[in-house]
Amino acid sequence: MNEAEKSKMLVGTEAAKYVKDGMKVGLGSGSTAYWMVKALGERVQQGLDIIGVPTSAQTEKWAQEFGVPTTDLSEVSALDITIDGADEVDQNLQLIKGGGGALLREKMVAIAADKLLIIVDQSKVVDHLGEYPLPIEVVPFGWNLTAKRIAALGYEPTIRLSGDTHYITDNGNIILDCKFGKITQPAKLHEQLIQLVGVVETGLFINMTDTVIVGNQGGINVLEKK
Ligand code: A5P
Repeated sequence: MNEAEKSKMLVGTEAAKYVKDGMKVGLGSGSTAYWMVKALGERVQQGLDIIGVPTSAQTEKWAQEFGVPTTDLSEVSALDITIDGADEVDQNLQLIKGGGGALLREKMVAIAADKLLIIVDQSKVVDHLGEYPLPIEVVPFGWNLTAKRIAALGYEPTIRLSGDTHYITDNGNIILDCKFGKITQPAKLHEQLIQLVGVVETGLFINMTDTVIVGNQGGINVLEKK
């Protein structure tokens, strides 16, 4: 296992410790969240009583594989905690997410939770968001026109592909990955984009994160909301 993967395993395992008996837990998506679901599965085998709400079909499969009981978001009134990865985390704990395409469900599950715990390795921690292309979920109908409206704001949308065809999200939508350069006002950018008809959700997670566990050279560092 390489260093990056070891970091993911470390933060995923650490995050699972935040989960207590009886909790309803949002289960994030991506390769870091994988380790958290696995660690939770081990704790469930030892008697931990929880119910998880997966943010993607892939996470649902992992939960089944590791024995974490799951339900649908519609079946719960609230969640105690959501644990998820991120593509970028800035100094104010604002995030870019959606590299794995699950941003809409991830955001719905994040805002349903009392606490959002993010797990990343050090490479994801940045001074300013925007180096990573921002994923924007868009309805397929007329997507080209939506892309032009995003481009008119001065950005560069690229439709995400899966092999030779458009990548389709779990919600039947497409993703436009947008290169913004340095994002100095993430909240304002999100507001601009979300108002465009055809845009379903953006990968900017603003003022949602409570805690970030960062994996760094065999150790962890915990960042808390100020
Ligand atoms: C999934 O849509 C994403 O938001 C992931 O949480 C994010 O891309 C982090 O994934 P990794 O842990 O695989 O880097």
